[in-house]
Amino acid sequence: TIAFLNGDFLPLSEAKISPMDRGFLFGDGIYEVIPTYQAKPVGMKGHMARLKSGLSAISITNPYDETQWRDILATLVEKNSPYIPSGNIGIYFHVSRGTDSKRFHAFPDNIAPTVFGFAFEIAPAQPLNKHDVKAFKVALEEDKRWQRCHIKSTSLLGNVLHFQTGVEQGVNETILHNSAGEITEASSCNVFIVKNNVVYTPPLDNQLLPGITRSIALEAFTRASIEVEESRFSIDDLLNADEVWLSSSSKEIAPVVEVNGMAIGDGNVGDMWQKAIKAYHDYKF
Ligand code: PDD
Repeated sequence: TIAFLNGDFLPLSEAKISPMDRGFLFGDGIYEVIPTYQAKPVGMKGHMARLKSGLSAISITNPYDETQWRDILATLVEKNSPYIPSGNIGIYFHVSRGTDSKRFHAFPDNIAPTVFGFAFEIAPAQPLNKHDVKAFKVALEEDKRWQRCHIKSTSLLGNVLHFQTGVEQGVNETILHNSAGEITEASSCNVFIVKNNVVYTPPLDNQLLPGITRSIALEAFTRASIEVEESRFSIDDLLNADEVWLSSSSKEIAPVVEVNGMAIGDGNVGDMWQKAIKAYHDYKF
């Protein structure tokens, strides 16, 4: 496949950066994952706004304006289409603080950010029928990451360790709760529950990433007259929910049928999920 590195498009296998890059040494950077289907990106405005605010939060100058980012994305999609014929293409963008000559924690003066992009195949858009969708099982753990989870930082060790817990339990993801027993998000997704036909998702704060899929879903549900509330809920609420869903750019809205070995609802994908994915597909572009 073809990658983007500091202004050039080149084969991914030829894209090289220095081991002195602060992205490598410190995880000092911001990233985005943007889904595209048949060359149409989903949530581009939201992804660009989040990239901009993440870079600003860690004092890295945004190397490109929105038009330039859109052009890079379009070129990556076009150049990679022959390698990913399904047309379900995820675009990864990564801006690190750049490469320094020494390893010193403070921000160096006068280094240019390293900008990297590559393309990879994502799952096709979710099917509309609940009998055709992959149902997820998840683990449940206290969030042991940091207190700035709203920043889409490339320092992902905390997320990696939480995700790995799920893998070691033979499931697909790990839902996280804070020390007060409130659900926040999952290691790489946002979380929704359904109770009595009302959809709930935790409100945005420093404990979770403001997911673009989450925000598109909230708008799509409102338009489709699905009742939705941003409010905190507990581990008990999660385990006693009628339905549980995850959302992310690579998964859209994914139904969860088991948490920590316990069945959710009747253990099958629910009818509200079917309504939700239809609403999401009707609205996402
Ligand atoms: N993960 N929460 C976390 C911790 C995430 O890493 C992600 C995305 C989300 C969902 O955000 P969005 O809807 O904008 O994708 C929530 C990406 C896809 C990843 O790291 O691969």
